[in-house]
Amino acid sequence: MTRILKPPARYDGLADWYDEQNAAAADANRSPLMDLLGQGVGLCLDLGCGTGQNLQTLRATGRTVIGLEYSADQLRLARPRTACGEALVQADAATLPFADEVFTTVAVLWLSTDVDDFTSVLREAARVLRPGGVLAYYGAHPCFNGPHTEARDDGRRIIHPTYRTAGPHPPAPWWGKDGIRQRLGMRHLPLADLLNSLTAAGLSITQAAEPRNDPVPWVLALRAEKRPQNA
Ligand SMILES: C[S@@+](CC[C@H](N)C(=O)[O-])C[C@H]1O[C@@H](n2cnc3c(N)ncnc32)[C@H](O)[C@@H]1O
Repeated sequence: MTRILKPPARYDGLADWYDEQNAAAADANRSPLMDLLGQGVGLCLDLGCGTGQNLQTLRATGRTVIGLEYSADQLRLARPRTACGEALVQADAATLPFADEVFTTVAVLWLSTDVDDFTSVLREAARVLRPGGVLAYYGAHPCFNGPHTEARDDGRRIIHPTYRTAGPHPPAPWWGKDGIRQRLGMRHLPLADLLNSLTAAGLSITQAAEPRNDPVPWVLALRAEKRPQNA
């Protein structure tokens, strides 16, 4: 396993707890994620792969998965979930230890809430993608899932006026019961910033979805393709 790292890794010490509490969400995301990606070939980078709960789903699309993750503790749980021919790399998603244009697919799954500069992460993701390669964003819906969002038990989502504040947010009183966000805070990118970051990275959105059946969608799925240079 390659090691290129700068501390701190916020999930160290939380991996077992996180893996258990995230299992149901990972299950629910499986089918919409498969729909977004479709079948494919070549190397797929699972950027911020966490405990590897999506490795099997990505593998089932026909791609060969390389997981990249910052936290050694998260990787400890991901390791037994890898298959023959797959690899895990411990590194920072904002400075990827890969040459240009080596991946046919980059999956960015529930990462935007955890990196301080998601725009840099998308730029790096695009750099390592082949022209015509696919980037799948699957995660927080910036409008209805973020530090500005109060999720009510009846399905309503109340939007607080911190929506336009990009970057890290400390826990707010409306965040509710103990979960990963109360422990680590939450990073946010308003919708326009997310879309502009994809475009600036040389990616064109080819498909968008608001998966699952919640009355107010809180998951956003985007499929984007890397434009050939000079396009
Ligand atoms: C919310 S978890 C999602 C994990 C996984 N993608 C999933 O969907 O289950 C976010 C993950 O991103 C990792 N992470 C945060 N910052 C990172 C960075 N700069 N580089 C790589 N991984 C990072 C965290 O350690 C954590 O495992």
